[in-house]
Amino acid sequence: MEIDGGGGINYDVIIIGAGPGGYSAALKAAKNGLKTLLIEKAKLGGVCLNEGCIPTKTLLYSAKIFDNAKNGAKYGVTVENIALDHGKVVKRKDKTVKILAAGLKSSLQNNGVNYLNDEARLVKGEAGNAGVLAGGEVLAAKHIIIASGSSAIMPPIEGAAEMYSAGMVLTNREILDIGEPPKSLAVIGGGVVGLELASYFNSAGSVVTVIEMLPQIGGGLDGELAEILLKDLQKKGISFILNARVVRIAEGSVIYEQAGETRELCCEKALMSVGRSANVSGLGLAEAGVEFSSKGIVTNEFCETNAAGIYAIGDVNGRLMLAHAAYREADVCVNRILGIDDAVDYTNIPAVIYTNPETAAVGETEESAKEKGCDYEAVKVSMRYSGRYLAENEGGDGICKIILDRNSREIIGVHMIANYSSEIIYGAGILIRNKTKVGDIEKIVFPHPSVGEIIREALI
Ligand code: NAI
Repeated sequence: MEIDGGGGINYDVIIIGAGPGGYSAALKAAKNGLKTLLIEKAKLGGVCLNEGCIPTKTLLYSAKIFDNAKNGAKYGVTVENIALDHGKVVKRKDKTVKILAAGLKSSLQNNGVNYLNDEARLVKGEAGNAGVLAGGEVLAAKHIIIASGSSAIMPPIEGAAEMYSAGMVLTNREILDIGEPPKSLAVIGGGVVGLELASYFNSAGSVVTVIEMLPQIGGGLDGELAEILLKDLQKKGISFILNARVVRIAEGSVIYEQAGETRELCCEKALMSVGRSANVSGLGLAEAGVEFSSKGIVTNEFCETNAAGIYAIGDVNGRLMLAHAAYREADVCVNRILGIDDAVDYTNIPAVIYTNPETAAVGETEESAKEKGCDYEAVKVSMRYSGRYLAENEGGDGICKIILDRNSREIIGVHMIANYSSEIIYGAGILIRNKTKVGDIEKIVFPHPSVGEIIREALI
């Protein structure tokens, strides 16, 4: 469906927001001959490139090298006087981001994407249809894609906003540029953001305590994997306070309720990682008649909103706040614009936690299979059956759990806790997507020795 901004059609597609969703939609649209304008109010690459996925992974890699060096003796390697220089780690992070941002900029230029660095919002065009106000004028397009992302939630916890202004409470944004690791860090929320940053700052020397409201860490992570990860992170020195709700924050302390009691945790800094909310304000959504709630812009599996010609992809639709989900949504959205039939399958999108060890999952968990009333079977093997895993993980206790549909014998979920699992999990996604049955696994040749062959090991 097309829209007319009223003042004539200036562009085929206008995209608001240049994070993974926005920039990948812009590239695909332009590569397919559509006249494309990408508008971004802050930095190219969005949260993922500038203050999320990429910076965090850069920090975590330094932590991994440091931890491996500390544990070198287990592998017959003795390293003396090892230290993690946080300042240098942050500088390298900045360099990595800069290289990727420059690459993205030239890729957009080379593919003919028009770019505007300004804040954009939807307005009613002359013909009553939506246009985009940016750069001081109303621009019209046949299609508008909103990819405005999400922001860290600052919950209405007493003292949280004040302590954020005072610099004691930080979000993922500020903590990535902190000059030196705090002596003690309270991590509020043991989800993905909390665990990854807890891991880094623990390695960097902070005394880290994670306070989590639920009985398990890792959000939707398979319960058994969450338990293994918890033990592993505890062994590395991170403390966890579970079933605890933070109720107040004051200078130098976080107050929480647990088992009916109010307790206090003293800390130099606190990381607020209790989730993210879709960036829906300031976009003129109501004016343009786009349906949204505090959870995000309402979309269907084609990324269409209720307003003709207006789409929403990435975190702003609140469906799955993952950069790679945004990439897929961008593909679907642009395919629809090009008249190609496509839809997002939200059941087959991998999720990774880049702790050390990392966890990776795709498809049904035991918990979700049970909830859906699915007749399933869980096959579980120790990662120690993989020669490569054993060779590289002295004392490691990772597992691979595969969920099968008991009747069809199809693979419907794969869950791993082991390093490299982030690099393997897409293959598991292909198995699920292709409705692979247990009996088909022997037709697939896995390299030996590799961590990935644990899938063969589990099913043959
Ligand atoms: P999250 O929703 O994953 O975790 C937040 C946690 O905070 C929950 O476990 C919740 O129970 C807890 N919580 C909420 N209020 C609390 C309170 N008052 N006291 C104690 N605990 C409380 O949110 P998170 O970690 O901020 O991540 C946001 C989004 O970003 C997620 O969708 C995540 O998947 C995505 N992300 C993905 C990454 C990856 O793919 N590796 C990395 C970072 C973020």
